[in-house]
Amino acid sequence: MELNLKGRVALITGSGSGIGRDTAFKLAEEGCMVVVSDINADTAHQTAEDLRSAGHSAMAVVCDVTKEEEVAHLVSRAQQYGGIDILVNNAGIVKDGYLTKMTEQAWDSVVDIILKGAFLCSRAVLPQMMEKRWGRVINISSRSLFGNPGQTNYSAGKAGLVGFTRALAQEQGRYGITVNAVAPGFIMTPGMRNLPHFSKLQEAATAKVPVGFLGEPRDISNAVAFLASDVARYISGTTVFVTGGRYSG
Ligand SMILES: NC(=O)c1ccc[n+]([C@@H]2O[C@H](COP(=O)([O-])OP(=O)(O)OC[C@H]3O[C@@H](n4cnc5c(N)ncnc54)[C@H](O)[C@@H]3O)[C@@H](O)[C@H]2O)c1
Repeated sequence: MELNLKGRVALITGSGSGIGRDTAFKLAEEGCMVVVSDINADTAHQTAEDLRSAGHSAMAVVCDVTKEEEVAHLVSRAQQYGGIDILVNNAGIVKDGYLTKMTEQAWDSVVDIILKGAFLCSRAVLPQMMEKRWGRVINISSRSLFGNPGQTNYSAGKAGLVGFTRALAQEQGRYGITVNAVAPGFIMTPGMRNLPHFSKLQEAATAKVPVGFLGEPRDISNAVAFLASDVARYISGTTVFVTGGRYSG
């Protein structure tokens, strides 16, 4: 299937590592010019450098997605490539704990990065997409939207992101812009592999996945690339679950 993404400009937040980094590579391999963005300067620059070494067009811009002025700077830097066609709202963190012990900071930081980040980045890039009458916003949600114990903040944020996706899809359809979400299940990112209890976690999670194995970042970036393409032009406001068949529980 020809995705026809050649020459498109893609901005991926939180693309210094994990799923975001692989999405940057996947979209670059499909011909996109990539704006790598992360709060972590070292990983953002490293990813962009690795992309350029592989022969792709990439720039790095350090940005905290919860800061309006940093998001404005990010979008203005992307003008160098002619403005953003594809926005992947990928930045996200976890700060797990049961609600009765959760600090206000743990609540605010998790929900802000997920929701305020998607709001600020989408608001900043949409005027350019509306002018071009073409655009893609892809929000990285999570299977946790169904509710995971110890993750009330994260589950609320990821479920909220699906509501955000549906509402924005209805606002933007008339401009040739689609808005969708991808909800990953357990994906074996380097961050996950480095967890001290990874092997226990892996065993427990694998047992719950109907297809019998855990996902890789490429499983997510393939879904993102599909949604970003013209092949998916009639898909908007939906959430694609990339979970190996596991939903709640
Ligand atoms: N890995 C999984 O199993 C899994 C499952 C479901 C959903 N997700 C979601 O996928 C996305 C990527 O997760 P990952 O596993 O690759 O995590 P990761 O920690 O490897 O990558 C997240 C990136 O976001 C960056 N970031 C954090 N705060 C930021 C901020 N304020 N502004 C900009 N960047 C910021 C981090 O520096 C990091 O590079 C997240 O939204 C996560 O919730 C991951």
